[in-house]
Formats: sequence, structure tokens, C-alpha cells
Amino acid sequence: MNLVIDRERLVSEIEALGQISEAEPPVVTRIVFTAADLRARAWVIAKCKEVGLEVQQDAVGNTFARWKGSDATAAAVGTGSHIDAIPNAGKYDGVVGVLGGLQAIRALQQAGFRPKRSVELLIFTSEEPTRFGVGCLGSRMLCGTLSAGDAAKLRDANGESLEEVRRRAGFEGELRGVRLATGHYHAFVELHIEQGPLLEREKIPLGIVERIAAPASANIMIEGAGGHAGGVLMPGRRDALCAAAELVLEVERAGRSTGAVDSVATVGICEVFPGAVNSIPSRVRLSLDVRDTDLARRDGVMGEIARASEAIAQKRAVSIRTELLNADAPADCAREIVQALADSCRKHKLSYLPMVSRAYHDSLFVSRIAPTGMLFIPCLHGYSHRPDEYAAPDDIARGALVLAETLAKLAS
Ligand code: GLV
Ligand code: MN
Ligand code: MN
Repeated sequence: MNLVIDRERLVSEIEALGQISEAEPPVVTRIVFTAADLRARAWVIAKCKEVGLEVQQDAVGNTFARWKGSDATAAAVGTGSHIDAIPNAGKYDGVVGVLGGLQAIRALQQAGFRPKRSVELLIFTSEEPTRFGVGCLGSRMLCGTLSAGDAAKLRDANGESLEEVRRRAGFEGELRGVRLATGHYHAFVELHIEQGPLLEREKIPLGIVERIAAPASANIMIEGAGGHAGGVLMPGRRDALCAAAELVLEVERAGRSTGAVDSVATVGICEVFPGAVNSIPSRVRLSLDVRDTDLARRDGVMGEIARASEAIAQKRAVSIRTELLNADAPADCAREIVQALADSCRKHKLSYLPMVSRAYHDSLFVSRIAPTGMLFIPCLHGYSHRPDEYAAPDDIARGALVLAETLAKLAS
């Protein structure tokens, strides 16, 4: 089989999708169910239909574009990723997996390959947690990690429920119908930019992921006492932001305390109320994101942060309440998929690095119901979640080539 990836087409499609943004391009902001997200979905769906894929969407907007295999009863082989983007993001995160997957299917079609198993390209809804606070919303629901009942309760910052928002975006049907049966997929492979610097540093074109780190995330609400910045003297103040500042440093300390490279802990949001220069902060909301490849170690860090919260609350006479949003278990990629990816690399004489994924991905959840693997390509300086995120055309094309080869193997 002579697989040829149309690199120029793939890159120009990535550029074109990058133009569909709530922010001024090259900045990409595409929050789930906004006009930009819906336009981007429609754009990709039209491309899928051009090559004869049959498109279906579920009640939460997960999109399945199926290239029918000759054996209609055989479990499908899935690939894909997400096209939503956090505020002030770049063009490649998720998109390389979706448009690279589409290009892989085109290359297989042009090479005359006929799959036995159907090959399904997925666009997962809301991999990013921006709107509803949990990442991988669509894949969590597909795999039953998030129940329909709990999903329906999710609200965005404007207080609108997922239920209202998704129906307004045109996604009907019952959320409980989103869950897929174990066995729906024979295998799943996600192509993604690395979002870290290792491949570039090692000058290795591809990474085969062996383990995916998992996040625990929470909102931390701190309540103290406000008042006049001049009138209230320092003794006896209960400044919520000062308590938050101590806690942020404790989060950093807890993240470092394990000594393991895979342990990371981040506070990415600090909202201060009332937010006036001459008013003592009475309330603060912090976000917490703690990740590791080892579940017990990750939960140990969460435990340390909880203990630090209690101590700070007592010392500063404030209340600190933690609302856990998710605490997921890390996943191993399936040995047979890792092997299939490695064989494909070898066949095309491409070197690869066995890797850990430190970002989470929809694959983390798909791995609960199907043998799953991930293929990484380098990105410039490891930058991601910023507008200057960049992956070189040759690297993207190599990723799509190895993906195509692997899909062919898995779908035969
Ligand atoms: C996914 O975008 C992550 O935060 O790892
Ligand atoms: Mn991302
Ligand atoms: Mn991503």
C-alpha cells in the first residue's frame, strides 16, 4: 500500500480551521457551544462528508464520522480528538488529531485500502474544561465516567446548565443515550501535539505514549471578612486573599514534595471579591489542578493541600471550602496499540520515543472502554495553550502517515 499524506492540504486545513475563532486570529478561542465552536464543527463535518464519511452526533455533540468497513458487525477502530480551544490558544491542540485523522482516512482511501472494520473519526465535545469546569466532557460521558444525571447538573459561569446550552446549540436527544457500550471500539488511537519539549529536544519525530497522567481538580472557596482598606486596621483582619496567597504557595510546595517528575500542582484561577483597590478581599475562588501518573501519589498531594487548607483557615480565621470537580485515575495505553504504532514507525523508518502524556486527553477516558494508544508529534519549544503554539508541516504529515498505517493494521 502506497500511503501518501497530502501535507499542503492538511496544513492549509489546519490554518483554515484556525480562522474560526472568537478571538482575532492567529489567537484561537473556541469555547464549547459558542458560535465559533458550532461553525468549526460544521466546517469539519462538511469535509468528512466530502470523502463519504457518514456523520452522526450524540446528545452532547460528540461527532462520529464513519468510514464503513466491509464487516458491519465488527467493532470499529476509532481515531480523533477535539476542536474546542481554551481562551487565547493556538491552532494545533486537538485539531491535529481531528484533521490528521481525516487526512489519514483520505490517504487510505486513495491507496485503495478497504477496511474490514469501520474506521470512525471522532470529534469529542469540550475536551477543555473552560465552560463547564470539567475536561473531556464528551469522552467522560461516552465512557460512563460522568453520568447523564451529573452532567445535566453542570452549569457555566452564567449559571446556564449543560442541558439548556446543548439543546440551544441544536443537540437533542437524551444525555443518557451518550454512553457507549464496552466493545463498541476494537481500538482507539489519538494523534496529538506533545505539549511538552522532549521530542524537540531529543530531535525525535514521534512519541508513542505508554501512560497518561490524570488530573484531580477542584474549586477552593475562601471566605474572610471585607471592609474599608483604610478604616480596618491590620490586627484582626480576615483577608481572604492573604489566606489564598498562603494556600497557593502550599499547593506549589505539595506539588514539589513528592520529588517525582510526574507530580504537578497548579492554581490557574484566582478570583477576588469585591476586587476594588480600597476594599479588603472578603472572598476568593481558586482553581486547583493536581496531576500525576501515580494515583496514590497524586491523592497524597491532594491530602497535603487539604491539611494546609485547614491549618491556614484556622490561623487566619477564614473558612476554606473545597469542591472536588474530578479525581481521575491515570491510564496505561494498550500494549497491542503501542506495538502497532511502533511497527508502523519502523515500517516507515521513523524513530520514536516511548513517552508519558502529562496533559490529559480524551484517550484517558476512551481507554476505560477500549484498547487505546496515543501518538505525539513535536511542537515548537513545547508551547501549547498559547497562540504561538506551532507544529511543523513535516512533523504533522509524519504523524498522519503513522496514524494511517496503524489504522490500516487495526481495521484489517
Ligand atoms: C488538556 O488540555 C489538559 O489540560 O491537559
Ligand atoms: Mn488543550
Ligand atoms: Mn488537546
